Amino acid sequence: MPMKDQANKLREMALNLCNQIEADLGKEIKHTRVIAISSGKGGVGKSTLALNLALKLCSMGKKVIVMDADLGMANIDIMLGLIPQHNLYHMIRDKKPIKDIIINGPGGLKIIPGGSGITDLANLDEYEIKRILVEMGKLDGDYNYMVVDTGAGISNNVLKFLLACDDVIILTTPEPTSLTDAYGVLKSVNRYGFSGNIYLVVNRVTNEAEGVLVAEKFKLVSEKFLARKISILGYILQDNHVEQGIRRQEAFSDLFPTSPASRNIDDIAERLLENDGARIKILPSPNSGIKGFLKKLTGFIR
Ligand SMILES: Nc1ncnc2c1ncn2[C@@H]1O[C@H](COP(=O)(O)OP(=O)(O)O)[C@@H](O)[C@H]1O
Ligand SMILES: [Mg+2]
Repeated sequence: MPMKDQANKLREMALNLCNQIEADLGKEIKHTRVIAISSGKGGVGKSTLALNLALKLCSMGKKVIVMDADLGMANIDIMLGLIPQHNLYHMIRDKKPIKDIIINGPGGLKIIPGGSGITDLANLDEYEIKRILVEMGKLDGDYNYMVVDTGAGISNNVLKFLLACDDVIILTTPEPTSLTDAYGVLKSVNRYGFSGNIYLVVNRVTNEAEGVLVAEKFKLVSEKFLARKISILGYILQDNHVEQGIRRQEAFSDLFPTSPASRNIDDIAERLLENDGARIKILPSPNSGIKGFLKKLTGFIR
C-alpha cells in the first residue's frame, strides 16, 4: 500500500476512534444523578421533601425516579395512596425484573418501593450483586435524577446509602436537637471523604428570616470546624397544607401549588438545577450514577 494511502487509513482509524470515544462519553454523561435525602432526627420531613422535590423536578421537564429506602418506615407509596404489588425484595429474592417493581406516581414520577428488600440490598453475595447491577443498571441514564429517601441518623446502613449517592441533601428543622443530629450526619459523611455536593434544607421554619439565619449558621459552623463546603438549597415554611396533603394521600405541592411551602419547594428545585448546571463538565466517573450507587452500596459491605 502506498505511503499516502496508509496515512489516510490511519487518519481515518484515528477519527473513528475519536468519534467512538465522543459517543461513549456522550452516553456516560447521561448518568443519572443520585441524590440522597437525609437527616439526623426522624420525622423532620425527609419523605415530604423527597416526594415534592421529585415532583417539582418532573414538572420542570426532568425525568425522576424516587427510591424509597427508609428501612424503618418506607412510606412514599402511602403518601400517594398507592399499593405496590412488588418491591425490591421481589427483585432480589424472586428475580423479578426492575420494570415490574417500578410504580407510576403522578406527573410522570416513577417510584421504586423499597420494602424489606432495602436490607437485602446491603447483604448480597457476589453473583446476586452482579445480577442486581445489571438489572438496576438498566435504569442508568434513563432518568436525570434518582432521589433516595433514606432513614434518619447515622446507623451503618443509612451511612452506606448516603456515601453511595452522588449528592446528599441534609434536612433539619430549626430545633437544636434536629440541628445537632444533622451536624452529626455531616460529620460522618465528611469523615468518610464524601466527595459529592452536600446540600442543606431547613424545614418547618416560622418565617424567611429564621430559614436564612439557621441555614447560614449551619454553613458557617461546618466550614469553620469541618472545613467542609456546603450549599444552602433553601428552607420550607411551617405550613398546614403539608399535613392536609398527607391526610388526603396526595402531594401537597400538587394539591396546593401556590401554598407557601410549595413555593419554597419550587425555589429549592430551581437552586438544585442551577447548581447542577453550573457544575463544570468533569468526566463522569464509573462510580457515579445508579451503577456507581449500587457498586458503592454493595462494595461497602465487604
Ligand atoms: N413544612 C412543613 N409544615 C408542616 N408540616 C410538615 C412540614 N414538613 C413536614 N411536616 C409534617 O411532618 C411529618 C413528618 O414528615 P415526614 O416527611 O414523614 O418526615 P420523615 O420522612 O423525615 O420521617 C408529616 O406528617 C408532615 O405532615
Ligand atoms: Mg420518611
